[in-house]
Amino acid sequence: MTLLAELERTTADFTAALADAAGAAEAESLRNAYLGRKGALAALMSRLPELAAGERPAFGKAANAAKERLNTLLEERLAAFKAEADRASLARFDPSMPGRMPERGSLHPVTLVMEEICRILNNLGFETVDGPEAETDFHNFEALNFPKDHPARDMQDTLFLSGELLMRTHTSPMQVRAMLERKKPPVAVIAPGKVYRRDYDQTHSPMFHQVEGLLVDKGVSLAHLRGVLTHLLRDLFGPDVTLRFRPSFFPFTEPSVEVDMSCVICRGSGRKADGKSGESPCRVCRSTGWLEILGAGMVDPAVFAAVDFDPACTGFAFGLGVERVAMLKYGIDDLRLFFENDLRFLTRFVK
Ligand code: PHE
Repeated sequence: MTLLAELERTTADFTAALADAAGAAEAESLRNAYLGRKGALAALMSRLPELAAGERPAFGKAANAAKERLNTLLEERLAAFKAEADRASLARFDPSMPGRMPERGSLHPVTLVMEEICRILNNLGFETVDGPEAETDFHNFEALNFPKDHPARDMQDTLFLSGELLMRTHTSPMQVRAMLERKKPPVAVIAPGKVYRRDYDQTHSPMFHQVEGLLVDKGVSLAHLRGVLTHLLRDLFGPDVTLRFRPSFFPFTEPSVEVDMSCVICRGSGRKADGKSGESPCRVCRSTGWLEILGAGMVDPAVFAAVDFDPACTGFAFGLGVERVAMLKYGIDDLRLFFENDLRFLTRFVK
């Protein structure tokens, strides 16, 4: 076979192989095999010396033209494969599909209420302080006038850790820490945070939140306590709220009070207006017209002694349950909802 005939056959082979190629990769592999430096065309060119001198220019021309043509065919085929791939991926893309909205986080209702309580008290001049949740027996009990083996300790179902540590049962140990740190009056602090008790039912959770308040100075009285709490609860629940102090007992306050506020549902009437029959008993306050909302009192002299404060100063302290406030504010009747992480519940409080 003449060299020219071989060139023609090689060209035909290439064209057939290109037509058979199933995809871009297969077509691309022909480039090396036919058009590369060690490919079929180069091999034919290298046999130029086999020809008579007069035939060489014509063959060289034919070979170059063939190379150029095959190159063009290859590029065209590759472009066709690419266009097909683009078409296929566009077919999978549906511009009418609704977009996927990014999920936005939001603050937990307990956090929202805790921040609101702190904001109101900060505005009155109370400074926010923070302390450990794993607390010593000294700060949680001893310095707060709960002697060892005293039955007052039974008020708090404590979760003990190893050694002298326990999970704090209230935020009151922050009273002790604040006074030890400040060394002398005046002290005006609030301490928000988590507390722990061995408790679990519709209104008790083994972890919940309190905000502690403490004001110590010369001449602080129960009237100041009443003023601060009235301001706080009216800001939280509305200007009509009234307060009631009931005698109570805490080892670290004397006198101690349980603070009730007028029911936010029936406005203290004990009866709730209902559409059909006119009125029905208020379930939230059990018809009493009052809601227990926090514990408070005047700092007991025994606590001042424990932190080495001048016995001539006086002070008040209060402890507020944050979940309790949130439940009343949002009308929630099961405290456990706060801790089940159900987004249908949590996203209702997005601000
Ligand atoms: N620490 C008390 C409790 O958790 C509440 C309280 C705080 C009472 C401050 C009086 C003064 O029950």
